Amino acid sequence: MAAANLKWPPVLALLLVAPMVGIASAGNIAVYWGQNGNEGTLADACNSGNYAYVLISFLTTFGNGQTPVLNLAGHCNPSSGGCTGLSSDIQTCQSLGIKVLLSLGGAGGNYGLSSTDDANSVADYLWTNYLGGNTGSGPLGAAVLDGIDFDIENGQSAHYDDLANALKAKGSMLLTAAPQCPYPDASLGPALQTGQFDNVWIQFYNNPGCEYANGDDSNLVSAWSTWTSSVNIAGSFYLGLPASTAAAGSGYIQPSDLTGTVIPAIQGIGKYGGIMLWSRFYDVQNNYSGQVKCCV
Ligand SMILES: *[C@@H]1O[C@H](CO)[C@@H](O)[C@H](O)[C@H]1NC(C)=O
Repeated sequence: MAAANLKWPPVLALLLVAPMVGIASAGNIAVYWGQNGNEGTLADACNSGNYAYVLISFLTTFGNGQTPVLNLAGHCNPSSGGCTGLSSDIQTCQSLGIKVLLSLGGAGGNYGLSSTDDANSVADYLWTNYLGGNTGSGPLGAAVLDGIDFDIENGQSAHYDDLANALKAKGSMLLTAAPQCPYPDASLGPALQTGQFDNVWIQFYNNPGCEYANGDDSNLVSAWSTWTSSVNIAGSFYLGLPASTAAAGSGYIQPSDLTGTVIPAIQGIGKYGGIMLWSRFYDVQNNYSGQVKCCV
């Protein structure tokens, strides 16, 4: 009896280790937060335990000599200094190991870069207001963000390569980007050729030609192969998805299809890092990240 008891613990240990190996190799989840006042606080998002990256969205106005404008919808009003309280939320997130980035652009907004000098000015502005050069008077208070996300969607690609180069020349930071799945991206194509980006979350939604539809992942897999073999990045590629059917016009993938079919199909192709979700608001409604985080 004693011998049998001694034999069991190693077997149990193996049974416990096997699933943990799976968890250790699982992907991360990135989420956009900021465009809906009813999505809960930034600290709530981070305390959910579901995300590795939170992308504060968006800096909707910048470039062309304009004074940059942060837009956080109903969360707070940066023009009156109303968003500086987010510093403590950002620090909460960072203390949990979550990377917090500022996202530039978005589907709306008024942004564009007119020259290399203009790109350098925007880089200076971002460095002194949101990054390592922030002395405490930035729109989000004293917090130092982990990096900058490029969600450029207006088809104007000029000088974002200059902006990426200028930012990385200033100091240590993450650079990420959210191109649409048709390759190359109309707005981010040249920037992504700089080799300056860490993670790239590709938007596999509102793009019927390259997204998952009706159980068919062939267009998505084909686009994933093109992206991962055409763009050199330091980090990983993420599958960008709507967090609910209401979050995008098309491209929603049922959690079971995602974890059972789509992830297995792309995981082996190369540089897979996880999924990106638009957005925290829709994720709260649908608990998408909660349903899939075990298995992405
Ligand atoms: C989200 O789904 C997961 C997995 O089914 C579940 O454990 C969790 O309780 C859910 N969270 C919410 C807020 O419903």
